[in-house]
Amino acid sequence: MLLAKVDEIAEGACKGFSADWLGEKLEGFLVKKEGVFYAFKNSCPHIGAPLNWMPDEFLDPEGNYIQCSMHGALFEMDSGLCVSGPCVAKNLESLSVQVAGDEVRLVID
Ligand code: FES
Repeated sequence: MLLAKVDEIAEGACKGFSADWLGEKLEGFLVKKEGVFYAFKNSCPHIGAPLNWMPDEFLDPEGNYIQCSMHGALFEMDSGLCVSGPCVAKNLESLSVQVAGDEVRLVID
């Protein structure tokens, strides 16, 4: 499933998406770090809240970590590991993506 065009997401930027996927409503987001795309479900491992409060805004002010807007948990952009906040050592649920030509696609594991 197409999530974005490669050029659509700048380095260190994010893009939220919503899709019907395998019979479920999937809320997720893409993040690009050092030229690599990562995708996660938009659900904080603390209490399951969405991470962002503004469209496509998933990072801390410095752009170094994914940040949950609810209680401020910080997650690594590549692994989704929580390194600060109430859910330390838990992970965002990652989704598999693949770059095909100029498209970033969600793929089934
Ligand atoms: S819901 Fe994300 S830190 Fe509490």
